[in-house]
Amino acid sequence: MITNHRIDLDRLMGRIRALGEVGSLPGGGVCRLALSDADKAGRDLVSGWMRDAGLAVTVDAIGNVVGSRKGETDGPMVLVGSHIDTVATGGLYDGNLGVLAGLEVIDVLNDLGLTTHHPVGVAFFTNEEGARFAPDMMGSGVHQGALSLETCLATAGIDGATVGEELQRIGYAGETPAGSVTPRAYFELHVEQGPVLEEAGIAIGAVTGVQGISWTEYTVAGVSNHAGTTPMRLRHDAGYVAAEIAVEARRIARDIGGDQVATAGAIELDPGLVNVIARSARITVDLRNTDDLLLREAEAQMAARVVELEKSEGVTIAARSLARFAPVGFDEAFVSLVAETAQKLGHTAMRMPSGAGHDAQMFAPNCPTAMVFVPSAGGISHNVEEYTAPDEIAAGANVLLQMVLSAAGR
Ligand code: HGY
Ligand code: MN
Ligand code: MN
Repeated sequence: MITNHRIDLDRLMGRIRALGEVGSLPGGGVCRLALSDADKAGRDLVSGWMRDAGLAVTVDAIGNVVGSRKGETDGPMVLVGSHIDTVATGGLYDGNLGVLAGLEVIDVLNDLGLTTHHPVGVAFFTNEEGARFAPDMMGSGVHQGALSLETCLATAGIDGATVGEELQRIGYAGETPAGSVTPRAYFELHVEQGPVLEEAGIAIGAVTGVQGISWTEYTVAGVSNHAGTTPMRLRHDAGYVAAEIAVEARRIARDIGGDQVATAGAIELDPGLVNVIARSARITVDLRNTDDLLLREAEAQMAARVVELEKSEGVTIAARSLARFAPVGFDEAFVSLVAETAQKLGHTAMRMPSGAGHDAQMFAPNCPTAMVFVPSAGGISHNVEEYTAPDEIAAGANVLLQMVLSAAGR
């Protein structure tokens, strides 16, 4: 049943823009890598907004921040969440939209003086991106028991600092035990970050699930040598091997086809000089597929190519898994409710899987979970040009509002 309550778009856009000022990049975009000073500043701003909305704010041992609003009854809350950490070339909407739309839902309830039957909460989770500290979805993974708190706190990032040290440094090593709360339901509004909705001319994505994710870091140990005097037959060229791994990732995606995607996102050579055969290389490979069997096939093909390269090039290659999450499906009743709610609000809707990982992936095995997508202009994200129009944001946030009203009982 749809009510005539609607979000305040100006208030929501004002918060999106204000948060976008934190860690803003010259020329546009945002860099708020997890647990950085910019992330701390973003956390302080959003936590302050939560308190202004009268929420009881808790910080858990992995730095997840949850603002909760009492209902007529106690017990598990209807939780709306996402993340406010960004990649280094982030936009205004990835993660931020879901958190701030959740806060907007709280403001609407406050404006109306409405007490829901069940408690309602809004959260931002630590290090969803995984760009500084792998794996991604770290905070929500600990929150929902998929990742070990101790292992995550000890994890060193790309700059050497550990998660535990950085949480202490920015003052977000919370007292609340992590991993102890299963919500009554979990909702997440997120930009699609791909081209599907825009190409289909559809306003709302009723997300059916999230594809499986496999991140691996390969460290190649070769032999540095002179680029001019070393015959090709005598080379142990870590740079060449890293390039072959990247080419193999693309071949695997092409040959498996379908939903298979593969990315070599980080490549570093040492010493990285024009006239020196690289003695070592670090390369990351991100493989994803909606089908876990095919994802395992992709992983096996990459592992086989690595063994071949070790032999043919006389190098050693150490593989380190950075993240591995199986595909998840969302609650079918909620997926249908997202589509029906959108249509009753006058918006077009379609069912679709998520290509990106999300905090919702961690909740899906434990409680009814749903995601609402809104279009990404040009299908781009993890890019400073990321954009979603205000009317598209309003559509998604109003669907979220109705989902919360329905699940929390008004
Ligand atoms: O990598 C992802 O899919 C997400 O942005 N962490
Ligand atoms: Mn995200
Ligand atoms: Mn992201």
